[in-house]
Amino acid sequence: MPTVDNPTEKTLAELGIRDPLEVAAEFAKVRDRFDFQIALPADEMRKLMLQEAWLGSELDPATSLRNFWVGRKRGVLALISDNWLKPAPTVLKPVVGSELNKLKVHIEAKLEEKRLSLEKTAGEQASAKDRIDLSLPGVIRPIGSHHLVRTVMQEIEDIFFSIGFSVVEGPEIETPYYNFEALNIPEHHPVRDDMDTFYLDLPKGAPGPLLLRTHTSPVQIRTMEKRQPPVRVIVPGKVYRRDNPDATHSFVFHQIEGLAVDTDITFCDFTGTIEYFVKQFFGESVKTRFRPSYFPFTEPSVEFDVSCIFCGGSGTGASGATCGKCKGSGWIELFGAGMVDPAVYGFVNYDAKKVSGFAFGMGMDRLAMLKYGIDDIQVFFQNDVRFLRQFP
Ligand code: DAH
Repeated sequence: MPTVDNPTEKTLAELGIRDPLEVAAEFAKVRDRFDFQIALPADEMRKLMLQEAWLGSELDPATSLRNFWVGRKRGVLALISDNWLKPAPTVLKPVVGSELNKLKVHIEAKLEEKRLSLEKTAGEQASAKDRIDLSLPGVIRPIGSHHLVRTVMQEIEDIFFSIGFSVVEGPEIETPYYNFEALNIPEHHPVRDDMDTFYLDLPKGAPGPLLLRTHTSPVQIRTMEKRQPPVRVIVPGKVYRRDNPDATHSFVFHQIEGLAVDTDITFCDFTGTIEYFVKQFFGESVKTRFRPSYFPFTEPSVEFDVSCIFCGGSGTGASGATCGKCKGSGWIELFGAGMVDPAVYGFVNYDAKKVSGFAFGMGMDRLAMLKYGIDDIQVFFQNDVRFLRQFP
């Protein structure tokens, strides 16, 4: 509601104005009032508009000001035209008309000037907001790191790279032929029982059966099918077995397979290579040993042991008690290996009389657990950052 008396709501006669000089003086007052208002800073203009305006106090003050002065019905100019000009006596009409015109021109020009300057400052403020302050600290995002199994995989790969091996990979979904038969494990062979296996549910009519590979050994066959000797490869990857999860078993885990085949590879090359790897991985001070074992695809087959890295092979812990890790034996079983069984060469069309070689298959998770003192394989698969962060 307007609280200020508005002379333009009255006629000139009501204001007691009778001659042209008084008319000019009254117009000058109106003009001064406009000049005063338009020069106000925005917040004062807003205050004034709330107090004085009939129109649009909710609008921004510059628009209110414009409505207040040039609004078509209730603007000051419209009021002057209605209340001063139209009822003016004939003698005053020309002077009122010309004063009104001058005032109109003046007000329009000033309002336009104001509009332009407001636009300019708004633009400047917007670009100041968009400006990038390079001195501010950036957003720090946590950077991930390699999983410990991945780190160990790379450690193992680097050791084998240094002696001329390269990396190959194979599918995690296999046929029984590659997973078993071509590795000299025929259908009713008892070792299949050790590998309770995940077979895939396939759509009717699809060629099968297919299974999740139980070891990385099928990639030996796939590699020898594609390459002629010399072959020197390692095969890292995931394998799957229907094991119940506990501290040392998981239905998915990682192996790294090794295969070296050439025309003159001996058992000495085999033991030398394995020993080199183990000492590089665990440190020069460890001792190694073989025990006879059995795998259908190697002959002879061995289990490879390393002197206990926890008790230094003594079988006794620091407190004098029996070492819990090697159960007092001083040895820790590491992995299976052997000289490639000549029967396997038959499946890949290698001449068993001309070539010889060795193979090994290690549990990568197990090696990681031994080297980094982790006593539960499950932590590798739980993705708990409190564990992962310990191996940045
Ligand atoms: N494939 C075997 C397993 O998963 C491990 C293995 C043993 C691989 C001897 C080999 C090998 O290449 O020579 O139990």
